[in-house]
Amino acid sequence: MILERLQIANVRNLERVELDLTDRGNLLVGANGSGKTSVLEAVHLLSMGRSFRPGRASGLIRYGASECTVFGVARVDGFQYSIGFTRGRDGAREFRVNGESQRLASEVARLLPVQVLGPRTVDLIQEGPDLRRRFLNWGVFHVKPAFRAEWAAAERSLRSRNRLLREIDGARIADSAEFASWEWQLAQHSARLDAMRRDYLRGFQPVLDRILVDLQFPTTISIEYHPGWTVEVDEAGTMVPGGVGRAVDAAAAPEGETGLSDTPDYRDPDTRGRTVPLDGRLAEALTRLFADCRGADLQRGYTTMGYHRAELRVRADGHPAADYLSRGQMKVLAWAMMVAQGQLLHEVAGRSSIYLADEMGAELDESNIRGICHLLTQANVQCIATGLDDGLARSWPEGSIRTSHIEGGIISPSR
Ligand SMILES: Nc1ncnc2c1ncn2[C@@H]1O[C@H](COP(=O)(O)OP(=O)(O)OP(=O)(O)O)[C@@H](O)[C@H]1O
Ligand SMILES: [Mg+2]
Repeated sequence: MILERLQIANVRNLERVELDLTDRGNLLVGANGSGKTSVLEAVHLLSMGRSFRPGRASGLIRYGASECTVFGVARVDGFQYSIGFTRGRDGAREFRVNGESQRLASEVARLLPVQVLGPRTVDLIQEGPDLRRRFLNWGVFHVKPAFRAEWAAAERSLRSRNRLLREIDGARIADSAEFASWEWQLAQHSARLDAMRRDYLRGFQPVLDRILVDLQFPTTISIEYHPGWTVEVDEAGTMVPGGVGRAVDAAAAPEGETGLSDTPDYRDPDTRGRTVPLDGRLAEALTRLFADCRGADLQRGYTTMGYHRAELRVRADGHPAADYLSRGQMKVLAWAMMVAQGQLLHEVAGRSSIYLADEMGAELDESNIRGICHLLTQANVQCIATGLDDGLARSWPEGSIRTSHIEGGIISPSR
């Protein structure tokens, strides 16, 4: 997906703005408060229907206006799409694609994959597992068409089990057929989501490795996947609920252990992501695990294991990256992981992502900025970066960046 043209109306200080974009690097230069981040927010709105900045959604609409609108002309697989998004002060939202209203916002997100690279991206390494889980889900969602429906079904079964945990009388918990039914479903969906995540990560790590070599990153990075439950394989080769604290490490798991890698249609690029294989042994073990956990979950009031507790742990030379790396190194690693996702999406599905790189100059040192700019240029992604002055343009390879200037919410013609 390439965004060729952007029209923004009433997003923060941008009353009416038009911008033509190149399919690689686009740099927006302006002083503090000129509206740079607002332009990036507008692109994010167009894809996701919300901003990436914290704060009230109504704060996005220009003071005095009743609604904000973003309109984009995009090219996907040689076809042109017009995509529109409107949000009113009353909270009403509408996506339109080629003039037709869209019921599913996720279809627009799929058409227009957007990633934000900014001051908070480092949280991907530094903070708890939630952001990394979201990061993983973003990647799987875009690469595997079956992910969204599977996810929605998993959420339903999880919500239902949690509701039962809140409502049920403790004495009835062991023989509740309703529990068993939701747990069976939760187990099936968890096993399928797990399969998709593992397959995704098998493709992701080598792309990240390549990028880190290009960036001359000084340590060896490994991404460890924990599925959100603890099961073990017993002597007879059967999966059984395992002791708490012992997780299955997918990255280290031998090929074939999940029983998925030799499923032919799963590996076939034409059907890749459209079929979701089910590892029956795992689903069975999880059904038993959820039943075993009922008592403990009842005490806590929620389901403590399942697809929703999956985690990525990032290690640098074998140590937790958040403890071992410098802050600057964490930033570079976080940005590299984000770019690796876009690169992988391009390799697997031939689709280009848009990177919104806010305050790039403030985040990284000169050589890392140059490294990231080269990376973004080579990674088959489109980028809209912001900076306080034109100097940032020099970090991009010759001829690969177009600079526009913004002042008081008005963009002057590019050069
Ligand atoms: N709802 C709104 N209506 C009108 N103006 C707004 C609204 N919300 C924010 N603003 C103003 O929009 C301007 C642009 O903000 P933005 O964050 O886009 O600037 P920026 O160019 O990214 O600045 P910086 O370099 O400081 O990050 C700010 O001056 C802000 O006060
Ligand atoms: Mg800004």
